[in-house]
Amino acid sequence: MEIILGADHAGYEYKEAIKEYLLKRGDLVEDMGATSKEPSDYPDFARPVVERLVFSNERRAILICGSGVGMSIVANRCRGVRAGRCLTVEEVKKARQHNDINCLTLASRGISVEQAVELTEAFLTTEFEGGRHIKRLKKIDTPPVQVVKHPLVQTKLTQLRDRATSKKEFRELIGELTGLMFYEATRSCPTTEKIVETPLQKAEGRELLQRIVIVPILRAGLGMVDPILKLVPTAKVGHVGLYRDETSLEPVEYYLKVPENVGECMVLFLDPMLATGGSAVKALSLLKEKGFNNGLRFLCLVAAPEGIAALQENHPDVSIYTAAVDERLNSRGYIIPGLGDAGDRLFGTV
Ligand code: PRP
Ligand code: URA
Repeated sequence: MEIILGADHAGYEYKEAIKEYLLKRGDLVEDMGATSKEPSDYPDFARPVVERLVFSNERRAILICGSGVGMSIVANRCRGVRAGRCLTVEEVKKARQHNDINCLTLASRGISVEQAVELTEAFLTTEFEGGRHIKRLKKIDTPPVQVVKHPLVQTKLTQLRDRATSKKEFRELIGELTGLMFYEATRSCPTTEKIVETPLQKAEGRELLQRIVIVPILRAGLGMVDPILKLVPTAKVGHVGLYRDETSLEPVEYYLKVPENVGECMVLFLDPMLATGGSAVKALSLLKEKGFNNGLRFLCLVAAPEGIAALQENHPDVSIYTAAVDERLNSRGYIIPGLGDAGDRLFGTV
């Protein structure tokens, strides 16, 4: 297993002892500081450690400060992190069995170095029990659906729904709406400092840190690709081909080609419509099998409550962004009031 370690000045000595123990055990250790007992600030170590942690399910983190509380507060602000501050082996075992903690925070002023090593051992060797706890954890991790209510989005969505809207206008509106939705979906993207020379002097700026992958669900998702590539030309594009069987409404797969090594990328699935949710659930399952496991977002324009429920039930880790949650599905699986068949209106196949 890969363990990421972080400590402030108060936890430094403990971190060194834990590192020695882990290396003896044969674990892969990433030490992200501190490098001495010089006074330092716990958020400076906790944040980079947990950012590394959420990029992979195969990693765990241990953070140590004087009380273990500051580290725990910072760690638990990061989505996907379940940090527990424990003082006894029993507490660690329960936190693993019931809460599936992926980050252990320790108090150097509450336990000895030897106890810290014992707690570390319990953290790494105790399995999550699953069962009734799965449902509870899902409730923590399921992010709320983001309904983008911005006046521009709602105005354009209304035009998009209108049956009098021409094919050309429909395509343009899908593009404009996608750009606005993408803006919302990338709001929390991490950035890094970048210095540029203006014609007058140096300016401190920022640029996107995380690489972006977009995955349109064919066909209608294709209408959402170009507007995103205009904003982020370096984004990679994967394609999932699915259509709904007209009778069963089950998704049928016909194409799959996605980029490799996407481990630490933000991945956005694109489809204007989330109806029964069958296509979205299938697309996500297919891509998870190919290693797409982190930072997954689903971007649509119109969603049915049934589709949202199905997606949250099957993929609670995925953030959903939509411009509207409509009333219901009709007996043929169309969203009511919806906008009709998005693929047909986009490509003129009606
Ligand atoms: C539409 C839409 C979604 C799917 C949503 O595609 O673009 O992919 O239906 O329905 P679901 O949530 O019930 O699965 P469709 O299957 O009509 O294929 P097409 O884009 O090729 O026309
Ligand atoms: N697919 C669409 O394009 N529209 C719907 O209303 C449902 C599925």
